[in-house]
Amino acid sequence: MKRTKRIGILTGGGDCPGLNAAIRAVTKTAIFSHRMEVIGVEDGFDGLIKNKTRRLETKDVSGILTLGGTILGTSNRANPFAYGEEKKDVSKEAIKNFRYLKLDALVCMGGDGTLHIAHQFSQLGMPIVAIPKTIDNDVGATDFTLGFDSAVAVATEAIDNIHSTAESHHRVMIIELMGRYTGWVALHAGVAGGGDIILIPEVPYRMEKICQEVKRRSKFGKRFSIMVVAEGVRSEDRELVIKRRVKASTDPIRLGGIGYKIARQIEDLTGLETRVIVLGHLQRGGRPTDFDRILATQFGKKAVDLVLAEEFGSMTSLQCGEVTKVPIESAIKNLKKVNLDSPLIGAARGVGTCFGD
Ligand code: F6P
Repeated sequence: MKRTKRIGILTGGGDCPGLNAAIRAVTKTAIFSHRMEVIGVEDGFDGLIKNKTRRLETKDVSGILTLGGTILGTSNRANPFAYGEEKKDVSKEAIKNFRYLKLDALVCMGGDGTLHIAHQFSQLGMPIVAIPKTIDNDVGATDFTLGFDSAVAVATEAIDNIHSTAESHHRVMIIELMGRYTGWVALHAGVAGGGDIILIPEVPYRMEKICQEVKRRSKFGKRFSIMVVAEGVRSEDRELVIKRRVKASTDPIRLGGIGYKIARQIEDLTGLETRVIVLGHLQRGGRPTDFDRILATQFGKKAVDLVLAEEFGSMTSLQCGEVTKVPIESAIKNLKKVNLDSPLIGAARGVGTCFGD
């Protein structure tokens, strides 16, 4: 008789809304539709290295559809191929534990860093299926990642709320958003919130152009400006503003603070009062949007289908509204950047948005 299949689930990298909805979808589909056993691996790959796991039953995932974060915990410092500050290779420990747990497959939910690790294990023969998640939306081979839509919703609401103070005090208000080296969150929230100036890493900005724009607006009776700035933007001198370095992390650089640099320059060059709001981790918090809950439910079901079909080394993906699969390798080949010829950039320029170029 065939043994019951056992699958593991882990969430790696930064948390985001929608992860719990995906954990619920994988667990419920696996148990209800296929009578599988589900093991939750805690704190990302750290749990696989140190064998921190727990059995997941349907009662454990009941009521978590709308919950932000991840009930399994996560870590962005647990790369088994370069672990800790000494960057030790402890991948053998993880493989040993995978076997000890008698897992038939591992469903990894993660962004760029976690997907790289998943791909490395997959090449070593570990049966892995991935689900893309990150508020940054910078994973290739999928139109959207889990968590992106929710982050955009939080950022848009923040921009909406900044308008009144900007207008009442005739100020330039800068709202700095996350997104690492791409401008997906800033572009989408900037357009949704009616940002007058949107700066994204894909378009190097010129200070002269920004100052011209805020002065032009104030001359024509718009005595305020809303600037949406992605944390990873660079001026033409190409210098990134780095907040800190986290040595043990897959990508040690933490961006942040560019908004303050730009604000100082605007005040110096135009005399216009300028204030900065750095939205930070608020963008990763709160309840997932309906879009993310629906995407998570579909990705979770698809991941279980892929496990059953033994389509290992693949990742769930959303392409033109259809949930499909792609090789993990194709998703991590290149960082997915905003296409400057996209209709959204065109529409934003059409309504007069300045991109600082
Ligand atoms: O990748 C998600 C993300 O929120 C980025 O947008 C941001 O640059 C980074 O993680 C922040 O990382 P940490 O949570 O380690 O500060």
